Amino acid sequence: MSNQFYVTTPIYYVNAEPHIGHAYTTIVADVMNRFHILHGVKTFFLTGTDEHGDKIAAAAEKEGETPKAYVDRISELFRSLWPKMNISNDYFIRTTDPQHMETVQLILRQVKENGDIYFSDYEGLYCVGCERFYTERELVDGKCPDHLTEPKIIREANYFFRMSKYQEWLIDHIHRHPDFIRPERYKNEVLSFLREPLEDLCISRPKSRLDWGITLPFDEKYVTYVWFDALINYVSALGYPEGELFREFWPCAQHITAKDILKPHGIYWPCMLKSAGIAPYQHLNVHGYWNVDAGKMSKTIGNVVRPLELADVYGLDAFRYFLLRDMVFGLDSEFSEEALVGRINADLANDLGNLVSRSLTMVQKYFKGELPQPSTLENEDDDLRIHSLELIDRYEAFMKALSFHKALMAIWEVIGRLNKYIDTTAPWVLATSDRDRLSTVIFHIFETLKIISTLLWPFMPESAEKIQVQLGLAKKGREIPLEDLRHWGKEKPVRAITKAPALFPRIEAGVEEWTASSEKSKTEEKLKVKPDKHLPPVPFSEFQKLDLRIGTINKAEVIPGSKKLIKLSVDIGEERTVVAGLVGHYTEAELTGKQVVLVANLEPIKLMGVESHGMVLASEDETGVHLLFPDAETVPGSKVK
Ligand code: MSP
Repeated sequence: MSNQFYVTTPIYYVNAEPHIGHAYTTIVADVMNRFHILHGVKTFFLTGTDEHGDKIAAAAEKEGETPKAYVDRISELFRSLWPKMNISNDYFIRTTDPQHMETVQLILRQVKENGDIYFSDYEGLYCVGCERFYTERELVDGKCPDHLTEPKIIREANYFFRMSKYQEWLIDHIHRHPDFIRPERYKNEVLSFLREPLEDLCISRPKSRLDWGITLPFDEKYVTYVWFDALINYVSALGYPEGELFREFWPCAQHITAKDILKPHGIYWPCMLKSAGIAPYQHLNVHGYWNVDAGKMSKTIGNVVRPLELADVYGLDAFRYFLLRDMVFGLDSEFSEEALVGRINADLANDLGNLVSRSLTMVQKYFKGELPQPSTLENEDDDLRIHSLELIDRYEAFMKALSFHKALMAIWEVIGRLNKYIDTTAPWVLATSDRDRLSTVIFHIFETLKIISTLLWPFMPESAEKIQVQLGLAKKGREIPLEDLRHWGKEKPVRAITKAPALFPRIEAGVEEWTASSEKSKTEEKLKVKPDKHLPPVPFSEFQKLDLRIGTINKAEVIPGSKKLIKLSVDIGEERTVVAGLVGHYTEAELTGKQVVLVANLEPIKLMGVESHGMVLASEDETGVHLLFPDAETVPGSKVK
């Protein structure tokens, strides 16, 4: 293992809120990062957001916001999610960062100086969803295979990157570095693309059509194609060309993406690097897709799985464990809350949770929390030690091969073995019959738990550290290097061994909740509307923090330039300015004089330049948006309880 490790996730588009797919890739990167930390390797972990291009400009417009205000808002949703998922990223890059934009321009200049950019007229089939031109051959029944929409014919003069020049080099590089793209199936997919002549890549968009992008350094009438801009984040974040981080970490770069963006990462990016005179990355690690209801997640269908909601209901580590245990890296997986609950109850509450709990109870009960020393060893002790130490090697091999589910299965084999060891040695019998033997058994249980908790740390950092605190260890998590674990008995507890409440309580209600909501969605399906997932319960005290008031709208005016937003002056005993997305549902005249329910103590937010001090409540379904109001004229400012 080299002394440095650099791992990246894709930078996510800010046209959608984070969902389980984004969480999976980022948790995989986190697990890999922490695995290297356990080896004492110096690591750098990058994630961020991709903020330019058609798609983003269109999403901002739809929300009635300027692109800048819009990307700031959604990017923040991603940035603030990661600490809540215990993601250990070192840096969060945004493609609107000035330093990134400068690096893109620098690389464009380098590539142009190498003679790899030319200007040409072009007519092609363009898919707005993919933000790229398609060849006839790539279309399925004349439609984009991803978006199932017919591409538009666009004719315009543009700048092109001479990607075709690097085709032979790339084929050769892949053959000489068989794990450049892995798993194998994705390498083969790239090689099969490369069997056909590679076309040059259109890397500009005229500002007359799109101006939300990075201006080309050699023609200010154009912006850079969003993929040419986005891929460069992997080097701009390291301070390319002069940055110390670039020198240190680029040679060991590993990208993680799903299969949807194999082509830009497996073909465009290596060719861009080659042309700019930068060494290729080390590995591209490609995983499959999480599907829901046997298909893609979609906002329209309403089956988007939100990671925070799941982590809130079931616990973050349980969620992380499930994602890594249930997906074979490289293949697709079907997400279901039922499977998640099944894993929590079987693997976490039963196997691991019970093991930790009963082991620690015994150390407390029989030795007052102090670890005893072993005496004469028997075969079953040797057997447990050998398997526990072997686990470290097996785990390492699986982790290096990106077989995360197998690494976890190997840990669970030892968890099973340890549970069996406890059952057969029966310490509760030894407690009255053989104190020496009891000491040996408890010592072996402790050592095995130490190994298990350390190997689990990359996957479930919080739970692993909790176990290590209960084990009385001075070091925890990243502080226990894997190498130290190989010395059986080396790391001793420095404090009393204690027992805390159950690590993973069984989920009973979750199943009911799931069943109830799935029943409900079956009914809703008939109406062709699927509800968003229900939110987890909140205590009444939380609800009481909301200040709900009846207000009377004194004035309503559409905000100039916005397609959605109306500025309301609402009387709630005092005059409030509130912005609401009601255009198309109510006219200004209909709103004036109406009573509404207002959330009066929301933090102010600026929308299209207007500061909104509250939010009016409304329902939304296929028939449109409907305001809520009292069923009799009410004194403005009255509390809603
Ligand atoms: N902005 C580009 C990436 C530029 S990288 C230089 C982009 N963004 S994205 O928001 O669409 O993210 C795509 C990535 O999100 C996938 O490659 C994968 O990492 C993750 N996933 C999105 N949906 C997913 C699933 N349903 N399942 C698994 N991962 C998925 O493409």
